[in-house]
Amino acid sequence: MSVNQKLTGEGSNKDTRHFEISLQGSDLHYEVGDSLGVFPTNNPELVELLLQELGFSGNEPVTTPDGTATTIRQALLTNYIISEPSKQLLQAISEKDTSGQFLANLLLPEEKASLENFLWGKDVLDVLQEFTAAKFSPEDFVKVLRKLQPRLYSIASSQKSVGESVHLTVAVVRYSVKHSERAREGVCSTYLADRSDAKISVFVHAAKHFRVPENTDAPVIMVGPGTGIAPFRAFLQERAATGAKGPNWVFFGEQKSTSDFFYKEEFEAAQTSGVLTKFTTAFSRDQQEKIYVQHRMLEHGAEIYNWLEKGAYFYVCGDAKNMAKDVDAALHKIVETHAGMTPEQAKDYIDAIKKEKRYRKDVY
Ligand SMILES: Cc1cc2nc3c(=O)[nH]c(=O)nc-3n(C[C@H](O)[C@H](O)[C@H](O)COP(=O)(O)OP(=O)(O)OC[C@H]3O[C@@H](n4cnc5c(N)ncnc54)[C@H](O)[C@@H]3O)c2cc1C
Ligand SMILES: NC(=O)c1ccc[n+]([C@@H]2O[C@H](COP(=O)([O-])OP(=O)(O)OC[C@H]3O[C@@H](n4cnc5c(N)ncnc54)[C@H](OP(=O)(O)O)[C@@H]3O)[C@@H](O)[C@H]2O)c1
Repeated sequence: MSVNQKLTGEGSNKDTRHFEISLQGSDLHYEVGDSLGVFPTNNPELVELLLQELGFSGNEPVTTPDGTATTIRQALLTNYIISEPSKQLLQAISEKDTSGQFLANLLLPEEKASLENFLWGKDVLDVLQEFTAAKFSPEDFVKVLRKLQPRLYSIASSQKSVGESVHLTVAVVRYSVKHSERAREGVCSTYLADRSDAKISVFVHAAKHFRVPENTDAPVIMVGPGTGIAPFRAFLQERAATGAKGPNWVFFGEQKSTSDFFYKEEFEAAQTSGVLTKFTTAFSRDQQEKIYVQHRMLEHGAEIYNWLEKGAYFYVCGDAKNMAKDVDAALHKIVETHAGMTPEQAKDYIDAIKKEKRYRKDVY
């Protein structure tokens, strides 16, 4: 990790960061649009609390999922999920603690909603503290945990511009829960923010569906609110480095312009240099009513349709649950309004763009 810098300023509700990781000596290469897989470790303070609760010193030997002999402390730090409790853990507790017998019922397929409700905001330590009669040996305990998984992050740089380095834009996940005073956090985003000063284990996850257009003259529209801006920073670096002549239009959205305007100077410089042809922002909390990227798209509907008619590629990155769907609906509305089409005709028009692979998404 060579750079760990806050992008959010004073008064922000978020802690979103810019990271730069050196790839020197790693022989790793990436293309813009790819993601970086990061293998995190768990928070050592949480591991110590768990060891205490389990009555282990931490030095007890265990075998990791790949068959390596290690101590339970090391295994809990690097090998296992200690955030969400696994079904196997709940099953084991139901067998070991009479007050936890009801957990076996929650594991039935028809009780999925009740299980989710029971587990809401709870981690492994919470359930162990709730069912104290459930005792484990170190080997038995790790057997009921699932393997810690890497997380993916959209790459925010082009190697043509930054060389043997990779940049990320990461929202650090920290939150509180009603049932406990213990602060809660996401594993990998806090690993990057708080615990990654030494070597980091990473891999490149190729995203062939999310590359910049091969035709360097093609216009590109990029919609990336929040951390969704990451790949488009990379796209602009790539289009500048390759001397691509096609115009570029970025839609960025965040909460407040004063504290959440990520990469402001870079975008302004890209406008001055000409690589960023149009830049449209939507700060949702700068005014009473919410203004999101899709509202800005609708305001600029005629021009977006015009760009599409000229063969523009349309890219979306960021939140999958709401934003990407709302942006898709706005795009349909724009085609209906500015091409004078029925909803069915607009759908056919956008389906045709998708078929030509000119509508590309990377949402999570
Ligand atoms: C292709 C792809 C690209 C991605 N690119 C990026 C990117 O560029 N930048 C980025 O920041 N992320 C990106 N992500 C998301 C990223 O992979 C991680 O999911 C994210 O960083 C959270 O991981 P974590 O380990 O910090 O949190 P985890 O340990 O996985 O915890 C997250 C979980 O915490 C819980 N949680 C979170 N907030 C609350 C709350 N308020 N109340 C209760 N529970 C809560 C939820 O259960 C949530 O699922 C991308 C994902 C994909 C698939
Ligand atoms: N599962 C979910 O419900 C959900 C929702 C959002 C984000 N996330 C995840 O949280 C992480 C961090 O998110 P982030 O910091 O990158 O930013 P973000 O939460 O996506 O927010 C970026 C901007 O998008 C706005 N926004 C909210 N809903 C929107 C919508 N329906 N359409 C368009 N814009 C919308 C936000 O406004 P306001 O905050 O003012 O509403 C904010 O201005 C990501 O991993 C993301 O996937 C999950």
